[in-house]
Amino acid sequence: MTERFTGSFTQQEPIPDEAIEAALAVLRHGRLHRYNVAEGELGETALLEQEFAAQTGAKYCLAVASGGYAMATAMRAVGVQPGDAVLTNAFTLAPVPGAIASVNARPVFVGVTEKLTIDLGDLAAKADQAKVLLLSHMRGHLCDMDRLMEICDAAGITVIEDCAHTMGAAWRGVPSGRQGAFGCYSCQTYKHVNSGEGGLLITDDEELAAKAVMLSGSYMLYERHLAAPGPEVFDRIKYHTPNVSGRMDNLRASILRPQLKDLDRQVTRWNERYQALEAGLRDVPGLTVIDRPAAESYVGSSIQFLLLDWTPKAVREAIARCAARGVELKWFGADEPAGFTSRYDSWRYAQSERMPASDRVLTGIVDMRVPLTFSLDDCAVIARIIRAEVSAVHQSQP
Ligand SMILES: Cc1ncc(COP(=O)(O)O)c(C=O)c1O
Repeated sequence: MTERFTGSFTQQEPIPDEAIEAALAVLRHGRLHRYNVAEGELGETALLEQEFAAQTGAKYCLAVASGGYAMATAMRAVGVQPGDAVLTNAFTLAPVPGAIASVNARPVFVGVTEKLTIDLGDLAAKADQAKVLLLSHMRGHLCDMDRLMEICDAAGITVIEDCAHTMGAAWRGVPSGRQGAFGCYSCQTYKHVNSGEGGLLITDDEELAAKAVMLSGSYMLYERHLAAPGPEVFDRIKYHTPNVSGRMDNLRASILRPQLKDLDRQVTRWNERYQALEAGLRDVPGLTVIDRPAAESYVGSSIQFLLLDWTPKAVREAIARCAARGVELKWFGADEPAGFTSRYDSWRYAQSERMPASDRVLTGIVDMRVPLTFSLDDCAVIARIIRAEVSAVHQSQP
């Protein structure tokens, strides 16, 4: 009998009991707004920031409404002005160029390599075109961060890291988000911690931190933060920094705190699933597994492989055959954006030049979510199905 997978690719685990209890406590006292605290109370949002700063080793942390908002705030704080060019990845998701557009700046796309990381040669070639790089660690793939920082430091480029897919990951032991001026994270349901919506931002720079706090909508209540610089730093910037409200609230923060405490355990579980899938996909003719560099500690919350130089028709057929057996794959090579998947030429509000080498890679990228509700057996079944269907289509190609 043909094996079928019947699980859901979009079902996350439930919110842990400890987080539900914490959320109920917030609901019972009713002080959901982060600055609404009782005498002597430390609010959930301020505590979340303090804990995430300690977890990443950052001096400062700010919790905000979304990952997209975190990126826009970081760009405003570093001084991106309307009309400025901002370098960013050609391979990423729509909220990344969207954040650039939200500050009326202009994305300049940098190509993608077969390792699914930013093309450092293309970055070096375009380094004179912008003063800021919004670096997306798309699908959790970290580029050679040492080389990237060398290129950017030499060119005077400020790096903002989009760590939506790398919370819990590291490059040579340095947590993702700690090399740029800012690290930006998302706490949206499909990410590594789940508060429905939400974002976090970290930095070691006191003035950038103070600006981000003011921008997020602190009014003059910034002294209620536990992971922000002292009032003397706010004195330097408070009259010149607009309030662009996008705060985190205590309800979401209360849900996130227990999840962050458990992040390392979850990362281990994700990687067990990823490695089971990866092992099952090795040595399939026509299918390229993405080898991960030794310096990278990744979080396998999704997996990608390449069907490099396949015709679009053959890729579509392989995806359709997997779907018929319950395995949902996303493809970055489609002409039209679909679901969460789009590519640099889909964002027509931003001008782009064709990048043939990147187009070849994008056309081959197949992407799959790995929710923690999958068991290791599920991963083995999924890998067997992909293996069989990709092989069948590959064999039938001329
Ligand atoms: C690569 C990437 N960056 C940033 C974001 C933005 O996160 P949010 O949805 O919290 O705004 C997402 C969300 O899907 C993403 O996939």
